[in-house]
Amino acid sequence: MFKEATLYSPVIKNEQGRVSVIFAKGHPGYQDRPYQEHRARIAKLALGHKPGDPAPDIPYTEAEHETWRMVSSELAAKHRVHACRDFLEAAALIDLRHDRLPQLSEVSAGIKPLTGFTLGPAAGLVAQRDFYGSLAERRFQATQYIRHPSLPRFSPEPDMIHEVVGHGTHLSSKRWATLYELIGQTVRRLESDEAVSLVSRVFWFTIEYGLVLEGGRTKVCGASLLSSCGELEYFLGAEIRPFDVAAMGRQKYLVEKYQPVLFRAESFDHFEDFLSTFLTTVDDDSALVAA
Ligand SMILES: [Fe+2]
Repeated sequence: MFKEATLYSPVIKNEQGRVSVIFAKGHPGYQDRPYQEHRARIAKLALGHKPGDPAPDIPYTEAEHETWRMVSSELAAKHRVHACRDFLEAAALIDLRHDRLPQLSEVSAGIKPLTGFTLGPAAGLVAQRDFYGSLAERRFQATQYIRHPSLPRFSPEPDMIHEVVGHGTHLSSKRWATLYELIGQTVRRLESDEAVSLVSRVFWFTIEYGLVLEGGRTKVCGASLLSSCGELEYFLGAEIRPFDVAAMGRQKYLVEKYQPVLFRAESFDHFEDFLSTFLTTVDDDSALVAA
């Protein structure tokens, strides 16, 4: 299991087929029975999804649409200041609506003609090789729930805001889509768990948390940073280091707090070259040395 696994509320299916989601004590939905039942219904729909079918439609509540309206609008304003150019260009292509939470099937239908990527439903945590491996087929497995309405600016787990605003925007760009596909191809050819773990760490510090230098200013590329109102205010306070595979492999990362250390590429071309070179050359032996 990769460390990000600790972010997900576990989904359980009992022998009678009843699906439930287990919330930790600190989760904002811990004592909210209707939210828990809603999340269990969403998880059950994902578990029943057949590959190739569109993602099932979710009956989102008015409170969830309001969360989306508020957070997606705030993020779009912050992106204009902090996001890298390629992300802004991709955001213009996907042109996400702000008036209501879109269905995953709608988002996927918008992305497919742009890059061939589709977004399918994940009930919760997907095993590491399964998640990365599906990228090789230009399939991205995304959660369909949205954070608890009581804390709209915070989510302890990856939700629709993260998946759609962060990864969905990436996947609307041909350049990003090529990198995601390459990640899938790389994980499929690696045999050792150590090598996949190294790819996962590099993914974390580039695709999720990467920065890039643009016109002398630090801009944000990573999906996790670009889907977090709070981290987009904080990231310039982090210690910023140059892109380096060995350093990323060694760097401890925090899954529930702001990252104290981030990595920055010299340009978006450098970001692409760095990732492509790493992904096409990493093998089971070299990963053991770097990990
Ligand atoms: Fe993510």
